[in-house]
Amino acid sequence: MYIKYLQLINYRNYKELSIELSKNVNVFIGDNAQGKTNILESIYYSSIGKSHRTIRDKELISWQEESAYIKLYVKKERLDKKIEIKVFKEGKKGININSIKINKISELLGVLNVVMFSPEDLKIVKESPSFRRKFLDIELCKLSKAYYYNLVQYNKILNERNMIIKHKNESLINMLDIYDEQLSSYGAAIVRDRKAYIKNLNSKGKLIHKEITSGKEDISFSYCSSINFRECNKGEFLDAITSNREKDIEKRTTSLGPHRDDFIIKINDIDARSFGSQGQQRTSVLTIKFASLEIIKEIAGEYPVLLLDDVLSELDSKRQRYILNSINNIQTIITCTGFNDIKNYLKKDDSKIFTVSNGNCMEKNYTL
Ligand SMILES: Nc1ncnc2c1ncn2[C@@H]1O[C@H](COP(=O)(O)OP(=O)(O)O)[C@@H](O)[C@H]1O
Ligand SMILES: [Mg+2]
Repeated sequence: MYIKYLQLINYRNYKELSIELSKNVNVFIGDNAQGKTNILESIYYSSIGKSHRTIRDKELISWQEESAYIKLYVKKERLDKKIEIKVFKEGKKGININSIKINKISELLGVLNVVMFSPEDLKIVKESPSFRRKFLDIELCKLSKAYYYNLVQYNKILNERNMIIKHKNESLINMLDIYDEQLSSYGAAIVRDRKAYIKNLNSKGKLIHKEITSGKEDISFSYCSSINFRECNKGEFLDAITSNREKDIEKRTTSLGPHRDDFIIKINDIDARSFGSQGQQRTSVLTIKFASLEIIKEIAGEYPVLLLDDVLSELDSKRQRYILNSINNIQTIITCTGFNDIKNYLKKDDSKIFTVSNGNCMEKNYTL
């Protein structure tokens, strides 16, 4: 799939933007704070209904304005799609797909798939488990409406369970059996899907990582569950949280379940998070991102759009070459501060370059 056209009205620092994109490589060049990431953010937002930078939608609306509007034409192998999103100051948003209003975010998922790679993604490797869980949840939500549904239900029940435990509300404590039953059913389904994803990430990631490191490094990914599963079923989940209930009440929180899980990244059998060099950690993120592209292609049947935000200049020539050789059939949207960063990427006939300055974006003719 690829994005043919993007329009923004009153979105961040764009009063109006209207651009046709190349189905191959698109580059946005500009100094800092001109609006490059804002463009990628609007595309990311159109794919999952959330920004990668903020949980407050109203930040997307240009200051002084009442609403922001995004329109995208997406070319797909089967049916083309038009996505329109309007975000209002009070926090509401309206989404139309092919001019028909949708009522649930789940209907948006999968219409436009993107993989974003930005310097922030180093956190997936370096920081706390919550960043890795977030990565897994986002990838799985793109691929499976069932996963999205299970996750929403799980989080809802988890919050309610935690409230009961926290306030030690006697009359409600009796209801924990019902809560635990439901939590187990959604929780086990989530862990099963995550384990399957990690298994796939492991097999695809190994090949990619070997290629990037010329066979020098072996990467592995393994899911690390807070519950000791054998079959990963509801019964095991329920046994685990039931026997842990007293402890949970003492600690005033639910201490087992997918909200406490993690996955471990190892390079040559050594934990990349604690012992990897900066370079190894960066390469691991590159591997994760390219493996997730392949997983989307395998499951959804089409490559997603790849968004590279300010990452090229941080990579050495070998890693840059890997990217360049891997994006042949993938629409890629790149931001950078100078032409030199991306010269190498412009081999294709119909690459497009745009310059971005203070919320204005202009297509630029170039000669290689
Ligand atoms: N809601 C908003 N309304 C108007 N301008 C905004 C809004 N949010 C951010 N900006 C402006 O957008 C610019 C940052 O854009 P960004 O895309 O992050 O820059 P970069 O080109 O460095 O990627 C800053 O100048 C900031 O002031
Ligand atoms: Mg930026």
